[in-house]
Amino acid sequence: MEVTLRIKRYNPETDVKPYFKEYTVEAEPTDRILDALNQIKWYQDGSLTYRRSCAHGICGSDAMRINGRNRLACKMLMGEIGRRATIEPLMGFTVIKDLVIDLEDFFASYRSIKPYLIAGEAPGAGEWLQTPEERDRFEDTTKCILCASCTTACPITWTNEEWIGPAAIVNAHRFIFDSRDTGTVERFHILNQRSGVFRCRTVFNCTDACPRGIQVTKAIEEVKRAMLLEQA
Ligand code: FES
Repeated sequence: MEVTLRIKRYNPETDVKPYFKEYTVEAEPTDRILDALNQIKWYQDGSLTYRRSCAHGICGSDAMRINGRNRLACKMLMGEIGRRATIEPLMGFTVIKDLVIDLEDFFASYRSIKPYLIAGEAPGAGEWLQTPEERDRFEDTTKCILCASCTTACPITWTNEEWIGPAAIVNAHRFIFDSRDTGTVERFHILNQRSGVFRCRTVFNCTDACPRGIQVTKAIEEVKRAMLLEQA
């Protein structure tokens, strides 16, 4: 089938403002959006710029707005978009070029919540066992691939540069509810800042945007509840 992709282009070094450019590609309904972008870049317009790496929904590089919703280009099929689609960069961060945004602040927020195990005393030699229930407690939030879909779908991100964002909270959740971790108080302190977890207005955009199906809003609510119980 013939599909027209309307892609937002912007090169801050040469363009006064962003503009849309249309490309027509031949594609099968089972091709991915990423395949169509590659077809454009390799055979029509080498200047088109976007991130991609694994092409299998694991690295999180190719998150973008496809028909107004944050999606991974390598996980969305051409058959899902029909004959025409609009593709734009994720919102809320500076565009470096075309579909590539500056993720420095996103990763700074992620690093701020100490996204690693802060372990107490290991229980002697051998494996550090958890019960299946203890492991299940944070199973959902281990799935994050840091694609920034959730954070850039959040309306607070669009207006508040300081907002820590859903992705950082999801990754805090992954360690806060890990029975081996002892960094909870430190993380609560970070998440209790002015633009921390309580800025969340429970809009659910983050949950809708997550390509891994993480219950992002639920994780945020669990962190809020744990912090309130800690303060009680
Ligand atoms: S290219 Fe790695 S997630 Fe799509």
